[in-house]
Amino acid sequence: LRRETEAALAAAADLRAWDAVRVATLGRSGRLTALLKGLGQVPAERRKERGAALNRLKAELEAAIEARRLALEQAELEARLKAERLDVTLPPRPTAPGTAAEGGIHPISRTVEELTAIFGAMGFAVVEGPDIESDWHNFGALNIPEHHPARQDHDTFYLPPGPDGRRPVLRTHTSPVQIRTMLTQAPPIRAIVPGRTYRADHDATHSPMFHQVEGLVIDRAITLGHLKGCLIDFLRAFFGIRDLPVRFRASYFPFTEPSMEVDISWNRRTGELGKGEDWLEILGSGMVHPKVLANCGLDPRVWQGFAFGMGIERIAMLKQGMTDLRPFFESDVRWLRHYRADP
Ligand code: PHE
Repeated sequence: LRRETEAALAAAADLRAWDAVRVATLGRSGRLTALLKGLGQVPAERRKERGAALNRLKAELEAAIEARRLALEQAELEARLKAERLDVTLPPRPTAPGTAAEGGIHPISRTVEELTAIFGAMGFAVVEGPDIESDWHNFGALNIPEHHPARQDHDTFYLPPGPDGRRPVLRTHTSPVQIRTMLTQAPPIRAIVPGRTYRADHDATHSPMFHQVEGLVIDRAITLGHLKGCLIDFLRAFFGIRDLPVRFRASYFPFTEPSMEVDISWNRRTGELGKGEDWLEILGSGMVHPKVLANCGLDPRVWQGFAFGMGIERIAMLKQGMTDLRPFFESDVRWLRHYRADP
């Protein structure tokens, strides 16, 4: 039986044939099982000896069967690994148009990349801050006290109060990152802060979540001239119009003094930038208020600076000739494909 089983195992070329041998030997009506069952008929004086011999045989057969299984499994695995070789140099299959895998840079990301490149060339570093802000960072430190009318303008989303009893907010602008930057970095500072901002407002040109980019420069003897030069250079580079007319208009923000809104020239009728008779407001800016500097532990007699903030969707829309802000957040692949960056 042992020789026959060993021969049958050697002849079994795959796991199916192997299993047939196993069943024919150790199975319920297998040959070894039959021998073990027959033990009862063996005369008592020989039974012990024969029982021991059969048990040895059983152990040997079980070991041989198991060894063959491992050998066959190994062989099958090797065969599979040989057959299923992966060609990692194969180019990916083109995906069906309109599927997410098609890939592309979202216009928001592209606009952020463009402006960080322009400001990067002027020596600005990118800084980020949290979307959930303390009341103090978003308002108080920026010289917007408790009952200041600017708070109402911001249509703030409030969160449930924290342990200090104050309600955190979804930041209504990127200006709180001015505070975080001045508190953690020693001047001179040249930072731009792209990021998400939130206001409870929704129509064709407002989304409850939108993006801003903040700019902050702190150094000794920084003047309004630096602010103007920096922003004119940026706007002309970003819109790609060498002589783009830029207008600085006196305005008010609690955290800058003086404050200026910045307009670029455009044609209201055609939407064309640069040579219209109309002005289009594009960003807010100003010299950092002495109180804000002091709130961040900077002596206003030593350090001055300017700050600005603009809506990323807004400048992207103007540059691309888009009229509706909502498609930025609707993930309609036809719109995305139309405005995506070339791969
Ligand atoms: N935070 C202002 C806003 O959201 C913009 C701004 C930033 C104005 C920095 C001045 C200086 O409207």
